[in-house]
Amino acid sequence: MNDEARFIRENVMAHNKWFEECIPMIASENLMSPLAKEMLISDFADRYAEGLPGKRYYQGNIYVDKVELKALELAKDLFKADWADVRPISGTVANMAVLFAFAQPGDTITTCALAQGAHISTQKFGAFGQRSVNSVQYPWNLEDMNLDVDGTIKLLKEVKPKVAQFGLSVFLFPPPLKELEDTFNEIGCLVWEDCAHVLGLIAGGQFHDPLREGVNIISSSTHKTFPGPNHGMLLGANLTDDQQKALEKAVFPGVTSSHHLHAMAALAITLAEMKVYAKDYAAQAVKNSQALGQALYELGVPVLCPDLGFTKSHAIAVDVAQFGGGKDIAQKLEDANIICNKNMLPWDESAVRPSGLRLGSQEMTRLGMKESEMKEVASFIARVCKGEDPAKVKEDVKAFKKDFVSVKYCFNENEPAYGYRKLVE
Ligand SMILES: Cc1ncc(COP(=O)(O)O)c(C=O)c1O
Repeated sequence: MNDEARFIRENVMAHNKWFEECIPMIASENLMSPLAKEMLISDFADRYAEGLPGKRYYQGNIYVDKVELKALELAKDLFKADWADVRPISGTVANMAVLFAFAQPGDTITTCALAQGAHISTQKFGAFGQRSVNSVQYPWNLEDMNLDVDGTIKLLKEVKPKVAQFGLSVFLFPPPLKELEDTFNEIGCLVWEDCAHVLGLIAGGQFHDPLREGVNIISSSTHKTFPGPNHGMLLGANLTDDQQKALEKAVFPGVTSSHHLHAMAALAITLAEMKVYAKDYAAQAVKNSQALGQALYELGVPVLCPDLGFTKSHAIAVDVAQFGGGKDIAQKLEDANIICNKNMLPWDESAVRPSGLRLGSQEMTRLGMKESEMKEVASFIARVCKGEDPAKVKEDVKAFKKDFVSVKYCFNENEPAYGYRKLVE
């Protein structure tokens, strides 16, 4: 090994060790199971497959095809979907495939605004803009942190979108799809939800059940509440054969070539694990986020939507304006080994200096934390917000974290969560 390689490995290992001592609260991340991680260093990582199982453009895919067919079967089974595609290599790529399949430049798609918690891929400067669609944003109800139902019905009837798109990156409450279903039918639009943040909750019967509430297409990442590899997935219900083919063509050759076979295999393992564990994991993740919201609120740290129980997902939104704002507090929390991100609240104008934090419970849940631990985590956060030296809080965080270093809700539960640190010791 030369000095450059040593430098790279040592920094990766240092990261592993650091995260072992941190409380992970980024709402869009998670820990893969040891079995899923093993797939990432298999020979699948070195291979190509283009097209669909049985119809590849390369030789050498005998076992790849078997794994991909199993992944498709598991995905359809877990989400009760009629159709699935496990080839998009990320959530953004899955979104691009839906755009390529169903929207021509100039077509109207209704969607949410960035300050409402939408993801950049659905914005003018993201994939929606790259596809030159005419995106029109729904009205928002600040108190409920959700769409304004009457205003949304009016808007849908006015602009008659080709596709009505839903889904957020600060996703506290399910979109009111049932209330909108008659309008979707009246205008005959496709209904698409980006479930990147909440896929693991949906797998476990929490949050909502989009494919039973009028949604035709789910696009998603597979590494947020769904604790799989960095990858993507599409699911469908009530799509015609032509619509399914349009999506498959949009995935390949539209927006992918090979589809990262090692990640696809890790996704297959995670689907198999979630079949067994999703129910308990998702229920605990939601209980944990609600407990965290309650504990912070009681400690004088404002959490949005106290009257609605703070959240129905893994995430809560916290207003830290009075403590210095999201940017400052997220940095101080990092100094205390608490990893989270600053986030815009709906009334913010600057994405660079927002007043909020977004906190997620899903990774802490995977590590085995429950409601009582959420109280301890809330007290660490409150101490930092109220001006205590982060270096002092960090020592308590490190001591607390010692008991939470293996992944739960998966096969091989007690393997270490933090990778291959031992290789350089
Ligand atoms: C709602 C939503 N969609 C899509 C994405 C993008 O996912 P990926 O990073 O897998 O491209 C994110 C990422 O955070 C997201 O929050």
